[in-house]
Amino acid sequence: MSQLLITGGAGFIGSHTCLVLLEAGHRLVVLDDFSNSSPEALRRVQELAGPLAGPRLQLIEGDLRSPADLAQAFAAAPIEAVVHFAGLKAVGESVADPLRYWDVNLSGSRALLAAMVQVGCRTIVFSSSATLYGSPESVPIAETARVAPVNPYGYSKAAVEQMLADVCASEPGWRVARLRYFNPVGAHPSGRIGEDPGGIPNNLFPFLSQVAVGRRPSLQVFGSDWPTADGTGVRDYIHVMDLADGHRAALEVLMAEPPQLLTLNLGSGRGQSVLEVVAAFERACGSPVPYDLVPRRPGDVAATVADPSLAERRLAWRTQRDLEAICRDGWAWQSANPQGYGPRGD
Ligand code: NAD
Ligand code: UD1
Repeated sequence: MSQLLITGGAGFIGSHTCLVLLEAGHRLVVLDDFSNSSPEALRRVQELAGPLAGPRLQLIEGDLRSPADLAQAFAAAPIEAVVHFAGLKAVGESVADPLRYWDVNLSGSRALLAAMVQVGCRTIVFSSSATLYGSPESVPIAETARVAPVNPYGYSKAAVEQMLADVCASEPGWRVARLRYFNPVGAHPSGRIGEDPGGIPNNLFPFLSQVAVGRRPSLQVFGSDWPTADGTGVRDYIHVMDLADGHRAALEVLMAEPPQLLTLNLGSGRGQSVLEVVAAFERACGSPVPYDLVPRRPGDVAATVADPSLAERRLAWRTQRDLEAICRDGWAWQSANPQGYGPRGD
């Protein structure tokens, strides 16, 4: 059992990972400013973890960029390792307001690393993204592929990855995992926690779920002339519970092995088209989901699929849940919580 700091632990991926880490026996301090999440998510994580594990989660409401808030989080308990989710993630928003993205994602991560140095904590798992591969030269994408982001969000992830490599090079003892997620979707099978984007969702899965539950009239399918089997975009969708389990495995490997810098793709290795996802979701929710074929979205690519073989070897981990499970669990969440955790700027 370890004492862990989870930044952004109330968010979509963070909340599911908190549950998996509590179930694995760890003690957690969560630092979150709720700028894109609700305290209700953590309340439900505690409820799902049960009366024995739930109380092992402690919350500090604060900002990653604030040295005082970070000091409070590190003072709450002797922290052995950090899982760093906190950040901003909307690509379009990052183009419109790049300085905010550099501030939260880069300055926030720098402040976190400085606080870790101060308390002598040298173990961190970082939420990176397949977005930093930009428009890939070929699929599946291995970790050796070129890092070539195409928007400020992607650049901020690439910059934090570099900062982590630099601290590893500066002194021995760092244990760092840079986890490059492909497309995280789905929800805990209980339907109690899930993805709750504020405003109009940018991404396929939350938009599709909101159409299915009647919150939005129809889905726009961006492009039906891509060089793919059915002409729609292909992505590697990973169930958020598989992703959460990947974090548990990465932490265990970092803590058991000598200090190192690990860089791993977390994906399923399977590509699915937009129309395949729509069809699977229709089977899960039991009714047709209206959609229109519209022109391509600027900045999109035809296909991104992970080569997850390195993560499979290094972490003894692989995805367990297929697209049917993703849609079943995603629908369990959306149908039981049509407005997510409640009104939040939507
Ligand atoms: P999310 O927005 O649901 O969670 C992020 C959490 O960080 C939220 O709870 C938010 O309130 C918190 N936060 C934001 N700024 C903060 C600050 N300054 N101080 C403290 N807390 C702050 O996002 P998510 O989907 O759970 O993503 C988690 C991480 O994974 C992010 O770093 C994201 O870039 C990365 N990632 C996400 C995806 C995806 O598709 N969801 C894909 C690849 C990588
Ligand atoms: C998005 C992000 C990317 C991030 C990734 C994983 C953008 C431009 N890119 O990419 O940085 O790493 O999520 O979180 O936001 N689609 C529709 N209709 C919709 C929404 C999406 O047809 O309303 C299509 C897209 O064209 C794409 C697929 O669905 O083919 C998946 O889209 P999305 O969920 O936005 O993910 P990515 O494009 O992979």
